[in-house]
Amino acid sequence: MLAHEEKQVEELIHQLPKSGILGSQYRSIIQYQNFWFPGYLLIENILKCQKHFKAKDNDLIIASHPKTGTTWLNTLLFAIVNRANGNHPMSESPILSQHPHHLVNRLEDVNFGGGFYNQLSSSQLDDIPSPRILGTHFPYVLLPESIKTSNYCRILYICRNPFDTLVSQWHFYNKVLIDLDGEQTLKPYTFEQFFEDWFEGRILFGPFFEHVTDYWVQSLANPKKVLFLKYEDLKENPTVHLKRMADFVGMPFSIEEESRGVIREIIEMCSINNMKELDVNKNGLNYYGVEKKAYFRKGEVGGWINYFTPPMIERMNKLMQQKLQGTGLTFKLV
Ligand code: A3P
Repeated sequence: MLAHEEKQVEELIHQLPKSGILGSQYRSIIQYQNFWFPGYLLIENILKCQKHFKAKDNDLIIASHPKTGTTWLNTLLFAIVNRANGNHPMSESPILSQHPHHLVNRLEDVNFGGGFYNQLSSSQLDDIPSPRILGTHFPYVLLPESIKTSNYCRILYICRNPFDTLVSQWHFYNKVLIDLDGEQTLKPYTFEQFFEDWFEGRILFGPFFEHVTDYWVQSLANPKKVLFLKYEDLKENPTVHLKRMADFVGMPFSIEEESRGVIREIIEMCSINNMKELDVNKNGLNYYGVEKKAYFRKGEVGGWINYFTPPMIERMNKLMQQKLQGTGLTFKLV
């Protein structure tokens, strides 16, 4: 990035609203285009990515709000694409030896010249075999233009009911942010505190409803470009939704594959019980320094009932009604 561009980015970030999370200013979040992001470096990288990322026509982008089933979708899509390419037998799938977040690189973690986590340089992105599967938590409005305007690059968005998403985020952020807090200044979030921040949209990549409905609207307007998936539907009938995904990316399952049980094999390989038991997911840290096992907790629908008080349920239902009114979008809560 050129020096004057750096300066522009710095000035822009300087002017953006900031807030603290976990009751601490230490871990600040920054608001940009109505969404909240974890800190200065990520915003800087988002801006750089918007400017420099060039989508290829056959790219497949997995987009999501955090804790809505991203890890699962990474593996399912990877398995669908690679079985169609005949790259390797299922028993030798990289899914069995690499953490799902290493299989699918997130755009905001790529080093676009300054870099956030420096996992991968932007030129290394070009070396990923086609079709590239890339991930992102970017809200739709912030996706690089080349993703939005390419007629062929496809987006698969996964969402989850807000109740279970909130609980999953609460567990994850309490664990992860505190583990990563080198200065040990953070206190655990109480569920009540997190609920209030969540309610106001002051969470990473929040607000939730705007993130979800923006992609929902795009999926209705352009169903060939954006496939909208729900965690609860995938849990209820994975076969149907795996077929939808395979059709969407132009790699449908053949009748012969179906009768050979390929779909069932993928579902079993990517199931949370199987993923949890793999050595690669049980041990060690990922490139953020987060325990790899933190991405696999319960993987259930409806667990929120053990956390929400009756007034919280009422408030969340009202918010949901208000935010989803007129969109046609609904969620299964149990
Ligand atoms: P819980 O915390 O409710 O268990 P993300 O991948 O977007 O970070 O979402 C994480 C959530 O998905 C966690 O939910 C996690 O347990 C669940 N999950 C991870 N792998 C899964 C899988 N293979 N099948 C179903 N759910 C999975």
